[in-house]
Amino acid sequence: MEDTDRFLLKLKGYYFDRLSVDIGFIENLDDFEIREDDVFIVTYPKSGTIWLQQLLSLIYFEEHREGTGKLETVTRVPFFEYNFQKIDFGKRPSPRLFSTHLSYYLVPRGLKNKRAKIIYVYRNPKDVMCSNFHFEKNVKLQFTSTFEEFMKLFLEGRVLGSLWFDHIKGWYEHRSLFNIQFMTYEEMKQDLRGSVLKICKFLRKELSEEDMDTVVRQATFENMKYDPLANYDKIITTAYGTNVKGHFLRKGTIGDWKSHMTVEQNESFDKIFQREMKDFPLKFIWDVNEDQNAEQGTKNLRKHVREEVH
Ligand code: PPS
Repeated sequence: MEDTDRFLLKLKGYYFDRLSVDIGFIENLDDFEIREDDVFIVTYPKSGTIWLQQLLSLIYFEEHREGTGKLETVTRVPFFEYNFQKIDFGKRPSPRLFSTHLSYYLVPRGLKNKRAKIIYVYRNPKDVMCSNFHFEKNVKLQFTSTFEEFMKLFLEGRVLGSLWFDHIKGWYEHRSLFNIQFMTYEEMKQDLRGSVLKICKFLRKELSEEDMDTVVRQATFENMKYDPLANYDKIITTAYGTNVKGHFLRKGTIGDWKSHMTVEQNESFDKIFQREMKDFPLKFIWDVNEDQNAEQGTKNLRKHVREEVH
């Protein structure tokens, strides 16, 4: 049996984490009652989920900002399809905050009435793939083969969250069904304050200058890494044991793929990316110095990788 079959479960055409998913919940997801003031973070895995969990926790809960409340972000903004804490979502006070990796076609029907809000965060897929590779290998300890092999699985969609291309295209192409704000990991990295303002505007939340400073300060990679309520280290130990060699907050950079991919791997990735994302209007940032469109970006980077690798 391959790793994929042992650790993933395909339901409704989508790969879930076999060990954490509640099949009964997934079967009945469509009918889950959505409230007008629910807020969902939607991400493909490794695109900035726990960052947004921290941001929403800081924006919505004064005690989280002040450091007086002791709840972890995953409790304040629980995973929808992986209800680790067995929370009764129906009894949760409003506004309920959730995070999910689900594809657009799997989410409850009530989200399509455009009232509840969705923040979709996406990240350039090469960094997503590399982050995922480390996570599977060093945290979940479920993937034991090479980067080359992982890239193959990623590009075939035989990973948690299924095919990256389908995820982003599905959400984007069906955006008119939802009340949705698209954001990128990279813009958050490059302008965290501006990103928090954008999130607050979408959520109609007003923060004082002082609170804004606190949110921005506490949501930086450096602060989250050492914040036990935000860094998931406790969860790693509970879920995956003490042999784990990695962290959720690993590097937190743009362009880490350049230290993983060979020229050949990069070129074959680009070929598939260009075929799949042809005519897709959202832009991707592949490198810290990059803010151009994907095609131009990858062209420049192809050159860049060649120079770096050789
Ligand atoms: S998961 O498992 O899907 O919930 O993972 P997810 O949270 O989506 O993604 C993990 C990556 O996000 C990085 N991260 C951050 N980067 C910059 N700033 C902040 N504050 C931050 N918080 C999380 C984290 O380091 C993972 O990326 P990599 O590239 O592995 O470092």
